Amino acid sequence: MSKTTHAQWSSRFSFILAATGSAVGLGNIWKFPYMVGESGGAAFVLVYLLCIGLIGLPILVTEWMIGRRGQSNPVNAMASVAAKAGQPKVWALVGVAGVIGAFLILSFYSVIGGWSLYYTLGSVTGDFSGQDADGIGALFSGMLASPGLLLLWHSIFMLLVIGIVARGVTKGLEGAVNVLMPALALLLVVLVGYGMTTGHFGEALNYLFNPDWSALNGEVVLAALGHAFFTLSLGMGIMIAYGSYLGEKVDLIKTARTVVIMDTVIALGAGLAIFPIVFANQLDLASGPSLIFVTLPLAFGNMGGGLILGLMFFLLLTFAALTSAISLLEPVVEFVEERTPLSRSASAVVSGIGAWALGIAALLSFNVWSDPVLFGLGVFDLLDKLTSKFMLPLTGLGAILFAGWFLNREGVAEDLGLSGGKEVLWVALTRFVAPIGVAVVFISSL
Ligand code: PFF
Ligand code: NA
Repeated sequence: MSKTTHAQWSSRFSFILAATGSAVGLGNIWKFPYMVGESGGAAFVLVYLLCIGLIGLPILVTEWMIGRRGQSNPVNAMASVAAKAGQPKVWALVGVAGVIGAFLILSFYSVIGGWSLYYTLGSVTGDFSGQDADGIGALFSGMLASPGLLLLWHSIFMLLVIGIVARGVTKGLEGAVNVLMPALALLLVVLVGYGMTTGHFGEALNYLFNPDWSALNGEVVLAALGHAFFTLSLGMGIMIAYGSYLGEKVDLIKTARTVVIMDTVIALGAGLAIFPIVFANQLDLASGPSLIFVTLPLAFGNMGGGLILGLMFFLLLTFAALTSAISLLEPVVEFVEERTPLSRSASAVVSGIGAWALGIAALLSFNVWSDPVLFGLGVFDLLDKLTSKFMLPLTGLGAILFAGWFLNREGVAEDLGLSGGKEVLWVALTRFVAPIGVAVVFISSL
């Protein structure tokens, strides 16, 4: 008995919404700015943009193509597409690694989703009003120091994710993405406008786009590459799963371009919103995961209409985080549902509770359990680094090597509607540029 019904997306548009819902999330607004700050600015940004265009985009197209051909979940899709190409079933391991990666990411993603929820409440109660940088900083440290508070909001966030996935109403959120993403973009524009009034906008622009190449090293390049995967939801089988619902007529390259542009615009917008505040208040560029939570509330607390804008912003951020988190739980649930006698809702509950439990270890590493557990890293950092810098690039490499070298070239060209010079470019990207890029970055950072 096959439990998965293979419906198709109603249109290219609703597919774009679902893929954008997965892509745009905490990675853009929370993670991208702090990685820029930790990695020294523009050099990181430019390498990141190169990784997005030359590696991320081809892999996104590849994952959708595999999904569309395999018409199944990531593991089965890889296995069946490999079998049709006369390749061994071990390629299914790419799908399995993706499911594991999604589970690990969800565990700590939910902790940050919890922060976003907590800050939504903080905006309503006026916690940020009239605060200076020290006050806002103290608010954040207070939250981080309280395991109970972190646990409460992590649990609420995960409950929401489980509830939505268990009821199988994921698709109901598609329409909401249509309204809420533009709203999020609009709020970023308002915040960028606020940044312009600080007198430090030029400094931020310079920091983001005028590279100091001496900041560049293997570590930074790997961070940029890893984040390119993270932000586009690549290397976890999620886009393979989405591709399996895709009709033959959809132009994958054009669609990928749309999703990639939206994701990139939101990330850069977040950077442009946050860095003027950092410079204006002489905050630490390398604050890490706290960065947006110690900058944006400062703006909201000191601008006209800040109360309502802050509330809207953190609500929208929470929503963006939810749509991404749902896409992380979905493949895990499908995997469990297929391999155990559990129903869909039971699978969602079991998988979600597993990720929730691991998330507890992650949140404790911000306070009572900050000791390193492995490679000198605490649980949160370990989960983050292990997935972004190791698992995602590696599974992404698997997918692209497979598509570049083991699938029939003419078949791929036909699937993607490519011919002539464009086809040659595609082959160059998928056979050489992307895999060699990933491999070199990977090896040089070891
Ligand atoms: N792409 C999401 C973000 O940028 O927040 C995070 C994410 C979602 C990563 C889904 C991986 C994934 F499979
Ligand atoms: Na993203």
